[in-house]
Amino acid sequence: KVAKNGTVVWSAPSNIALVKYWGKKPGQIPANPSISFTLSECKTITKLSFEKKEDDGSFTFDFLFEGQPKQSFRPKISTFFERVKKYVPFITQYHFTIDTQNTFPHSSGIASSASGMAALAVNLMSLERLLNPDMTNEYFYQKASFLARLGSGSACRSIKGSVVIWGQHEDTPGSSDLFGVHYTDVNEVFKTYNDTILLVDKGEKQVSSTLGHGLMEGHPYAESRFAQAHENLAAIKQALSTGDVDTFIKITESEALTLHAMMMASQPYFILMKPNTLAIINAIWQYRAKTGVPVCFTLDAGANVHVLYPENVSVKVLQFIKDELICYCQNNQYICDKIGTGANQL
Ligand code: PMV
Repeated sequence: KVAKNGTVVWSAPSNIALVKYWGKKPGQIPANPSISFTLSECKTITKLSFEKKEDDGSFTFDFLFEGQPKQSFRPKISTFFERVKKYVPFITQYHFTIDTQNTFPHSSGIASSASGMAALAVNLMSLERLLNPDMTNEYFYQKASFLARLGSGSACRSIKGSVVIWGQHEDTPGSSDLFGVHYTDVNEVFKTYNDTILLVDKGEKQVSSTLGHGLMEGHPYAESRFAQAHENLAAIKQALSTGDVDTFIKITESEALTLHAMMMASQPYFILMKPNTLAIINAIWQYRAKTGVPVCFTLDAGANVHVLYPENVSVKVLQFIKDELICYCQNNQYICDKIGTGANQL
């Protein structure tokens, strides 16, 4: 089958890890398994237009970000195409125009690589489906996650929702280093969880995640950290199933601090938290101790704080955020997000 010219459009969300992926092996293989909430509001929307061209074994593309050509994104996309070519060989038969935009403010310090690579991967699968209409949905989504991983590891967790596990895990049948799997045994309380992202520092990342993963090689605590991730994943799955919010909080916060502890203990060492990151963490701990409201935090590889809480306390927590936390955000900025369902065709 040949699809001549056409356009497909997909949105894919960002995700926030609860048990963190930090450290990888060649071929975008994670050093330890991870689990994340897929988000709902922070998304990339990508329109992929394809025009049949002579197949000379090379891929060609134009890249537009919010309608404008953007040179600085091209190398990441070239690398992605280079890596996926083996698995989607038809890409050399087309000239692509990739037109992409994010729903969240750019340079907000929110990584767009997960949503961006997931959106591109799922668009390529849409084209593959035009060529092979008989493929199953399972094949479609699994391969989309597989391709997304080759763009950015954590992107493989952004194809599906609402909870996704990536990386081989003894306690999780069907789990794989090659793609994310949907974890469905989730208690009601977690199905509507909120994630309010406090924008502490909107600057460029000081350390790329590629470099960060690399620093886990030969890291003095690497082996015990990887073993701990396996244990934490088993325990948090149990907490997600039974609705055990206290255990969820203990593991999620410890994982966030451990991620940053790994960075502080690597060579070279670095600190991505800012004074306001710590001020927010302390305020959350004080508020939780005082009120008993089960609100907690997690961090990505940056200074911003993700505030996680169940829907039934959202009015109280939003008030707390407005009264006591917004003052620590750059230009008082924050983003209200929640757990979501994954990529969507538009
Ligand atoms: O997908 P990458 O290579 O950008 O790595 C992301 C790593 C963390 O965001 C820090 C943790 C995670 O599991 O998402």
